Amino acid sequence: MSPSGSPGFTRGGLTVHREPAELARVTRALRATGRKIHLVPTMGALHRGHLELIRRARRDINSVTVVSIFVNPLQFGPNEDFDRYPRSFEADLAACEDAGVELVFAPSVEAMYGTDPQITVHSGPLGEQLEGATRPGHFDGMLTVVLKLLNIVRPDLAFFGEKDYQQLVLIRRMVRDLNLDARIQGIPTVREPEGLALSSRNAYLTEEQHSAALALSASLTAGAHAGTGGAEAVLKAAGEVLATEPSVKVDYLELRDTELGPAPAEGEARLLVAAKVGATRLIDNALVLLGSPGVSEQA
Ligand code: PAF
Repeated sequence: MSPSGSPGFTRGGLTVHREPAELARVTRALRATGRKIHLVPTMGALHRGHLELIRRARRDINSVTVVSIFVNPLQFGPNEDFDRYPRSFEADLAACEDAGVELVFAPSVEAMYGTDPQITVHSGPLGEQLEGATRPGHFDGMLTVVLKLLNIVRPDLAFFGEKDYQQLVLIRRMVRDLNLDARIQGIPTVREPEGLALSSRNAYLTEEQHSAALALSASLTAGAHAGTGGAEAVLKAAGEVLATEPSVKVDYLELRDTELGPAPAEGEARLLVAAKVGATRLIDNALVLLGSPGVSEQA
């Protein structure tokens, strides 16, 4: 049992740790035996997108995969869905066990943050744009918990989905700007057959909202196909698709470069969309090749 009294437990081949110091000790010992440590940070409610991150993390047979399951209060605003965010801990553990995960880290909020945390990460100007414009403080909270996870686990590689593209760019930026040791691996978005990007928040959608939400990925596909015509053509094509679904309330549709600076005249760019469908806010993005024939990636 750890000093603060919250015991971990073992289930089949899986060990669940509750205390940061305990997990840090275990990963340090594993590293000393020559194993690589791979980290998959999640907020639980695991779906096929998370399982793809886990699958990629486990591809290196010399590695041990740590999946963290922690709904991080710091990255939710006061009027956001922290309390009703889907939680399915038992099912998540079963999914991790089936996927061959060796270590799960599932701390309480108190174990993670202590009683009087004072220092957080500031996400800078990029953290105030796109998602950050409607979710002030979200990226500060997200980067703070990711930095803590990287410090606790000290992974050789950490895996994040491209669905949260701005999150991925900011994490890479934090690693670079703060001289962190970890390497960050982005993994392409997993989609439903009809195109909707998998997200734990899809669970909030009614059947009707779910079919309206398909407009997001369809708009990205239309935008990507218009890439040869340049930025204006991309935004026009994507916007036209979104306009066909009046129940989809678009927050932003933007074309940026791959680091989320201004869009280039040609070459690789990222098309990003955020919209509310009912009370549910959804985001999606796709790579677009500007000014060249062909489509690099379909949403
Ligand atoms: O993408 C998520 O699920 C979360 O933002 C993360 C990276 C696990 C941090 O809480």
